[in-house]
Amino acid sequence: MDKAPEPQKRALIKSYGCQMNVYDSSRMADILAGEGYGVATTPEDADLVVFNTCHIREKAAEKTYSELGKLREIKSAREASGKDMIIAVAGCVAQAEGAEITRREKNVSLVFGPQTFHRLPQYLATHKATGKPVVETEFPAAEKFASLANRKPTGNSVTAFLTVQEGCDKFCTFCVVPYTRGAEISRSPLDIENEARALVNRGVKEITLLGQNVNAYLGENTDLAALIDRLSKIDGLARIRYTTSHPRDMAESLINAHAANPKLMPYLHLPVQSGSDRILKAMNRGHTAAHYIALITKVRLAKPDIAISGDFIVGFPGETEEDFEATLALVKEVGYASAYSFKYSPRPGTPAADKIDQIADEVSTERLHRLQALLLEQQRAFNQTSVGKTFDVLLEKPGRQAGQMIGRSPYLQSVHMDHATGIAGDMVSVKVLGVGSNSLSAQLSNAVA
Ligand code: 5AD
Ligand code: SF4
Repeated sequence: MDKAPEPQKRALIKSYGCQMNVYDSSRMADILAGEGYGVATTPEDADLVVFNTCHIREKAAEKTYSELGKLREIKSAREASGKDMIIAVAGCVAQAEGAEITRREKNVSLVFGPQTFHRLPQYLATHKATGKPVVETEFPAAEKFASLANRKPTGNSVTAFLTVQEGCDKFCTFCVVPYTRGAEISRSPLDIENEARALVNRGVKEITLLGQNVNAYLGENTDLAALIDRLSKIDGLARIRYTTSHPRDMAESLINAHAANPKLMPYLHLPVQSGSDRILKAMNRGHTAAHYIALITKVRLAKPDIAISGDFIVGFPGETEEDFEATLALVKEVGYASAYSFKYSPRPGTPAADKIDQIADEVSTERLHRLQALLLEQQRAFNQTSVGKTFDVLLEKPGRQAGQMIGRSPYLQSVHMDHATGIAGDMVSVKVLGVGSNSLSAQLSNAVA
């Protein structure tokens, strides 16, 4: 008689923070699939829960502990019915806090940073054998990339992230990334191409190349523009994007790629953080406001319709009303299609956290409101310019209503289409009819691919 199949183990991976964490989570899912784990949709159903955490701002880091607290009861309830639950904390909080996590939360069995998640099967085995928590905060990034090179991608989305570069050598004085993700390291172009081909073979049509400083990419004398050129030769890959870029690394070759390569989408996320030269200097950004504006001008000369996006921090130590007004002036001069803005959050171990001239919270809050009002107005204005235009949309998934499909414009706007005939992965030509709160509504003109 056949042996009854082993009951399948299930894992739940929850991702917080940036897109690189989303990518790391999907690679952890690939690794766990290889270990016989299916996908759990709720923690009640999960034999393994992985929190892939973010440390960029205090709020993001605190979220880890509140989520861990919520798991206590669920874990006890599972144990009462004879089922185990292994809890793992991965990502940047794990890297920054290490064993402090297992001290604060006794239920946590595994703690490992962004550079060692490829060893997850090993950690599970060690924990199983010893019954003790495993804590790992090493930095062997090259080993990780080598180990990930041959993993088959799982998942079924038509868009995917692909990390090409990791870490940061810039040391902005507010930022934890150089400490949590380590020094800048680029993957080999061949590994990247192989991974991109594997993604395309399983149905991916759009790839977003990721890096903390993606435009600093340099793998075996291949810069980001050359890498994009190489990937754009892959049949079946329709669109390429990249994020996040640093103004200091915005090379001519990359700017020219926007003009020359039709697969490279007209969208640039180029954080500036502040419009005040004094604050930019205190942030150790290595560029001025004028330098940033000149770059945007060049980019627009190469690709006039490009959508510009950015990140801003308000309330950096020492920021005066005049400094903040310089940020508003820069925003007005650039004109953003979308943007992310944050209140400065002092991060332990970073130089700015020790500055004595910290800004009162109510001042930062008020500035954030003013900045966000302006950015929202610009986003609406940008979306409004799409109305009446025709462009290609990559269909990604069905919408809530019957017959509705959701996709993305070349400019990364979410587009909703009623009575759409295509399926996810189709590229369709649409005419934009109107602007919703966060998306465009459009009607299909005719299928183009
Ligand atoms: N406080 C607030 N925002 C921060 N960011 C990075 N570090 C901090 C901090 N300490 C923002 C920056 C960065 C984005 C990813 O997060 O704007 O570009
Ligand atoms: Fe957060 Fe930065 Fe880590 Fe991404 S790299 S998860 S933004 S701390």
